[in-house]
Amino acid sequence: MKNFQYYNPVKIVFGKNTIKEISKLLKGRKKILFLYGTGSIKKNGVYDQVKEALKNFIFIEYGGIQANPDYTDCMNCVLLAEKENVDFILSVGGGSVLDAAKFIAAAYYFKGDDPWDILKGRGKIDKALPVGSVLTLPATGSEMNSNSVISRREIGEKLAFSHPLVFPEFSILDPETTFSLSKHQVANGIVDSFIHVLEQYMTTDIGTPLQDRQAEAVLLTLIEEGPKAILNNKDYAVQANIMWCSTNALNGILGCGVDQDWATHGIGHEMTALYGIDHARTLAVIMPGLLSFLRKQKEEKLLQYGERIWGISMGDSNVRIDEAIARTCLFFESLGIDTRYTDLDIEEDAPEKIAARIDARRDVLGEKRNIRGPEVIKILRNLK
Ligand code: NZQ
Ligand code: ZN
Repeated sequence: MKNFQYYNPVKIVFGKNTIKEISKLLKGRKKILFLYGTGSIKKNGVYDQVKEALKNFIFIEYGGIQANPDYTDCMNCVLLAEKENVDFILSVGGGSVLDAAKFIAAAYYFKGDDPWDILKGRGKIDKALPVGSVLTLPATGSEMNSNSVISRREIGEKLAFSHPLVFPEFSILDPETTFSLSKHQVANGIVDSFIHVLEQYMTTDIGTPLQDRQAEAVLLTLIEEGPKAILNNKDYAVQANIMWCSTNALNGILGCGVDQDWATHGIGHEMTALYGIDHARTLAVIMPGLLSFLRKQKEEKLLQYGERIWGISMGDSNVRIDEAIARTCLFFESLGIDTRYTDLDIEEDAPEKIAARIDARRDVLGEKRNIRGPEVIKILRNLK
């Protein structure tokens, strides 16, 4: 096992009717920035619940954070937060609103010339406004991690940063808030969570049986509960399980002491920046090709995954690996998610364009740092 440090200060408040807890959690705060997205919380009753919980606080609202949150909106919020002298940001929505809140929190105190440097990995963060969240879409794990992903449409970029000062102070997870999600969004969340687990699990085997089994527990639960959620996402028990799976998929615990391969996310962010495709839908067309391309490097884990998750124990390694990848694709497809980039409505030379962006950035991806532009093309075109 590799050396690691694990730190996670997020207080999780999970369950029915928990939004009212905000009033206790925000005690002592003087002025709150209540941040939300493009309207879903006004339709599903979450907005009213939050307003009720905030009735004894001074707060200002900013609605309109879009999916794949944009840098320009975030910077407008920084100006608003400065003008209004807020001392807390409350994010209400999915991962996009929360990622925006985290970036605003860091940019608020940023001393450098250009806050975009935070996302380019060059900006030093010494202080951030505290953030809390009410999560309405299980997918990203942002509610219990210190990551934030921001898009800048004017220059066609999508970049991430991570810093311990932007862990949410608390996250409220009420599964009932997810009842208003569309099937499309439910499926996206399941696939995003599944792939977060795979990126920490499907690497080189370095002898981490506890982490492997923790990861497998999340995968198996998503496989069991996912189809139920697609059929009916108003079943509280199912939504509660999916929600807790998503949080556990990316709160850092599965990544302790293991090799990690975030190439699928690295390539996926470029695809979203170029073509505006939903985050999870990019991942589902990249991961199968990546597993096939790196089958030798990941052989032990692929075989273990095939056997423990899909019950595949017969045949030679290549046959078993092919079947494990095929079963993964079938699972995504059963949720309504395509698994080949040719299924997406994008230009024929998309793989070359994405590869060029990765090379221009001199990015080298994967747990063995062996994925550059040429390998990205092979992964997307599913070539050996
Ligand atoms: O705009 P609103 O009204 O909020 O509507 C949203 C949005 O249209 C809607 N929605 C959210 N909750 C709903 C709802 N609709 C009905 N009922 C509800 N309860 O769903 C749409 C998508 O929301 P969004 O927040 O964009 O989805 P998600 O949570 O999947 O977040 C995606 C963003 O997170 C980043 C992605 O790259 C993308 O920018 N990620 C963040 C990570 C992190 N912070 O750790 C890790 C992930 O890998 C990911 O990269
Ligand atoms: Zn993701």
